[in-house]
Amino acid sequence: MKGIVLAGGLGTRLSPLTRITNKHLLPVFDKPMIYYPLQMLVNAGIKDIMVVTGGNNSGDFLRLLQNGREFGLNELHYGYQQGEGGIADALRLAKNFAKNDKICVVLGDNIIEKNILGPARAFQRQKKGAKIMLKAVPEPRHYGVPELRGDRVVGIEEKPRRPKTSFAVVGIYFYDARVFDVIETIKPSRRGELEITDVNNAYIRRGQMSYDILDGWWADAGSSIQGLFEANQFVAQYGANHA
Ligand code: DAU
Repeated sequence: MKGIVLAGGLGTRLSPLTRITNKHLLPVFDKPMIYYPLQMLVNAGIKDIMVVTGGNNSGDFLRLLQNGREFGLNELHYGYQQGEGGIADALRLAKNFAKNDKICVVLGDNIIEKNILGPARAFQRQKKGAKIMLKAVPEPRHYGVPELRGDRVVGIEEKPRRPKTSFAVVGIYFYDARVFDVIETIKPSRRGELEITDVNNAYIRRGQMSYDILDGWWADAGSSIQGLFEANQFVAQYGANHA
């Protein structure tokens, strides 16, 4: 399985912190934000990794991460997203890198306390389709929110005014190689982005979506100044990416 960290977008919600740099390069306790999703993939045994960046500061990712030696990697692959066409648009850039392999996609601002070894192994065994991770949160309306029926997820709404459950869809996604064909079938949303939620709903409609509940704390460090602050507190207090 290959890994993809998506770190494009402009991060305007963190302005003015992001006026002169990319949000994924901001510090979260003692490391730049992007270190955490990268380490998450490495800890799950995923060593073939592509980082998709964008904007004016993309060169800084190369200077910072280089060939990934700090993470025990021999090389890192890079992609550049032009504009801010959405998460699924950024993922599209990984098509040639992924070839026909399964992939694990992590949003560059998602940080977790523990690890995704269990779900990664389960997805290796899953014959086809996709897997998402869910986490109960106090304010699900800020996230993608699943509708559940029994042990099945039957739909996801992106930032709904009236959430159907108290779960958020975490920014960690497992896909089979068909995901790149699925992306080609979806249309930009009202905010002009290719939404990862639309990709996930396409898998749900085909009956090919499984889910796991994420263990330990989860932070969406790039969602707001408050989110960034909480991520700093979590990491300082409990640490991140535990084995
Ligand atoms: O964090 C989990 C949430 O992430 C999910 O619950 C939502 O369903 C999902 O849509 C997403 O929502 P956000 O509003 O948090 O997405 P955001 O625009 O902050 O983008 C998250 C990351 O995706 C960002 O850190 C970098 C990457 N990204 C985003 C966009 C819009 C790109 O690489 N390119 C882009 O064009």
